[in-house]
Amino acid sequence: MSKPAVRVAVTGAAGQICYSLLFRIANGDLFGKDQPVILQLLDLPQAQKAVNGVVMELEDCAFPLLSGVVVTDDPKTAFRDIDAALLVGARPRSQGMERRDLLSANAEIFKVQGRALNEAAKRDVKVLVVGNPANTNAYITMKSAPDLPAGNITAMLRLDHNRAVSQLAAKAGVGPAEIEKIAVWGNHSPTMYADYRFATAKGQPLPKLINDETWYRETLIPTVGKRGGAIIEARGASSAASAANAAIDHMRDWVQGSNGRWVSMGVPSDGSYGIPEGIIFGVPVICSGGKYERVKGLEIDEFSRKMMDKTLAELIEERDAIADLLK
Ligand code: NAD
Ligand code: LMR
Repeated sequence: MSKPAVRVAVTGAAGQICYSLLFRIANGDLFGKDQPVILQLLDLPQAQKAVNGVVMELEDCAFPLLSGVVVTDDPKTAFRDIDAALLVGARPRSQGMERRDLLSANAEIFKVQGRALNEAAKRDVKVLVVGNPANTNAYITMKSAPDLPAGNITAMLRLDHNRAVSQLAAKAGVGPAEIEKIAVWGNHSPTMYADYRFATAKGQPLPKLINDETWYRETLIPTVGKRGGAIIEARGASSAASAANAAIDHMRDWVQGSNGRWVSMGVPSDGSYGIPEGIIFGVPVICSGGKYERVKGLEIDEFSRKMMDKTLAELIEERDAIADLLK
């Protein structure tokens, strides 16, 4: 007998990221190959026709695990009784913008959706915010949903984590799966800090294997930080398939476990590592049994402290910029 279906809400269903994401979820890539899913799709009224076209394509895939689809422009209907939410729907940036420039366009969306989640979702709903600026939008969502566990509102740093793994693997001449213990700290913005100090490849310390600290500091960190902008420059549109893949990785590991591996998630700070409580900050975590646990007790050296303070200062600025919205 098959398991009861889980309900997952996805916003921005007519957009670029969802054109990849929805098909991966329906294929069982997030909840597992034996877990039926019901997709609850939210987009704006003017995008409903396009969402219906995507639903026609989902039908045409005849996915065995897809047991239902709800299409709506009402957040409460989309979030009714859901187990998980992927909040993608928001404006993307174009060339010349930083992600925080989207704050005025997108912040209100997350206030409205946070309130709707608070009212309609299951009390243990797992929420991933993808829409930019992701950390601060997750902060707005968390503050607008006071009856949900704050720790269940998370922001996507996994694309940055995967980008760092890929660049480091290429430099070290190993496969991405051989790299372990990467951490991406802070904001999903160019100030993020991709930290390879604890990383290993084939059991060997990665910094020793690469043996080029100047390359790490002056090339790797800014390359990962500015990768989103480089993709916009090259493609004329922001990353979509890789963003969808990272969203699947983030939620799959949270739901099904990360098998002891470190992954980076933007989560509300518990005050550790000198990050004020409640700020949504990228940290290394290990997931198991449907929960994530921060990797604790890591040494923060002088360089790391400087990097973490810089990304924290930006997050505090963003938080202060939306303070009025939350009154
Ligand atoms: P897109 O413009 O192709 O699609 C956005 C969709 O959201 C559209 O269909 C739009 O109608 C919908 N939308 C807008 N307001 C909405 C609302 N209030 N409720 C529901 N739906 C709404 O954009 P995209 O390329 O899919 O990107 C979506 C967001 O994801 C952007 O903010 C982008 O910057 C962000 N992003 C984040 C990461 C990350 O790593 N965190 C990576 C890539 C993209
Ligand atoms: C990315 O990192 O690719 C996304 O956040 C899109 C962007 O604006 O950079």
